[in-house]
Formats: sequence, structure tokens, C-alpha cells
Amino acid sequence: MKTNNAQPIGIFDSGIGGLTVASAIHQWMPQESLVYYGDTAHLPYGDKSKELIAEFALRITRFLLEEKKCKAIVIACNTASAAAYEPLRDQYKGIIPVINVIDPMIEAVIADTDIHRLGIIATKTTVASGVYQEKLSRRKPSLPYAALATPLLASMIEEGFYDNSVSHEVLKAYLGDPQLADIDALVLACTHYPLIKKEIDQYYGGRVKLFDSAQVVAQKLHHILNKEQMNHEGPAGQNEFFVSDYTLAFEEATRIFFKTSVKLQKMPL
Ligand code: DGL
Repeated sequence: MKTNNAQPIGIFDSGIGGLTVASAIHQWMPQESLVYYGDTAHLPYGDKSKELIAEFALRITRFLLEEKKCKAIVIACNTASAAAYEPLRDQYKGIIPVINVIDPMIEAVIADTDIHRLGIIATKTTVASGVYQEKLSRRKPSLPYAALATPLLASMIEEGFYDNSVSHEVLKAYLGDPQLADIDALVLACTHYPLIKKEIDQYYGGRVKLFDSAQVVAQKLHHILNKEQMNHEGPAGQNEFFVSDYTLAFEEATRIFFKTSVKLQKMPL
């Protein structure tokens, strides 16, 4: 497909957590236009089957490409990256770049030679997919790791429970799990988790290095657009935000995830 550099970048997630990635992309490349799609009608993805998530992801990608004419797709969700990246990449190979949140994170972790034991926290589907475990074992077999499903965290954050007594207790229960004992680095393998990064850091008293997807993915996209000569030069881009189900609570929460309030448009697919 012949794309024009002024066309937008399509970004999607199960909900509004992927706005952490959109926000980092916007900061890195303010001249690019973004079209964000949050599949709030099907949230959370974390407890759904791989097949169903792949079906949702395909439908959203079609909307972003066919209706919104996006020039690249960013899967701003670990669960959807684990379940749907390969079918999407294969379907759009040679047509447009499709970027997931897992591979850039693996690159960042294996490049860090100071890590001796790594923890990974994510939704049930991401952990059960084994994708982080498989890639780490293959790329850096000498690095011991533990992957723990932390299913309450995404819904807890989406409901506005962070930085309060409820989130402190939930985090204490998860991070105190013996599987995560002795880690010196932790991958926050869910795009909602940057919102609780500060609390996690406080729990560990700064002793554990934290990796979150937003920054790593924005840098990776910047690199790919430059390499493919697809980056747009010019004045600030126009951003659009769609959700499959609208509630005022989602709209209010966008301010926290995207750093400024945005107008959500309802667009069921
Ligand atoms: N944002 C999704 C992720 O990165 C998790 C939320 C969900 O389960 O829908 O995995």
C-alpha cells in the first residue's frame, strides 16, 4: 500500500490503558497524527481466549486502515500483542508496519547487563501465552526469570483505584509472592501499569529496576518510521480517540492516562 507520510498512526488497546503508549508517542513525535481505538466494550482482554482477542484485533486494525487510513499500527496492549501480533503481522506484511509492545521490551531487557533475576507481571492471558518466557529463554537463556499473573491490577486501575489504600494492599499481596523474591528488575507487561509504577517503586524502596512499555515502544516506532522514511514533518498532528463503548468514567480517566483530557467518540465495530 502506498502511504502518505501525513497519514495517522493507528494505536489500539482493550481500553484506555494503551493511552500511556499513545501519550509517549505523542511526546516523541508531536507532529504525527494519531488515531486511538480503545475496545472498552470487550474490556478486559486479560481473561479472554487468544482466538477471540485475535478476532477483535483484526476488526480494529481493519477500521484503522480502511476507514482511518493509518500508515502504521501499534498494538498498545500486551495481551493483544501476545494473542494477535503474529496473525496481524503476517496479514499486513509488506503493506504497513505493525508494532507490538513485547518485542521492543525484550530488546531493552536483554541489552541490560545489570539484571540478575527478572520478574514479569501481566494479565492472565499474557502470562499463559508464554510469549515473554519463550522469547527470554531463547534470547538470553542465562537470565533467570519469573512471570506472575496479576489479574486484578488492570481492572483496579481502570476503576480509578491507584495510589490509595486498596491498591497498596493488592500490590503488597502480588509483589510479596515468593516467585518474585530476589528480583532486581521487573517488567510491567501491561500498558495499564505505568499508572502504578510509582507505587511499585515505593514498595521496593527503589531497589528494583522497573521497565514499562510506553517509552520503549515510542522509541521503537520513531526508529522504524525514520528507517522507512515514513515520518511526517510539519505542524502538530491531529489526534482522534475512539472507544467501542462510551462512559463518562472512561472519558474522565483519559486525562490520567494521556496526560490531557481527550474527547472520546463512540464507534462500536
Ligand atoms: N492493557 C492490557 C495489556 O497491556 C491489559 C488490560 C486488559 O486485560 O484488557 O495487557
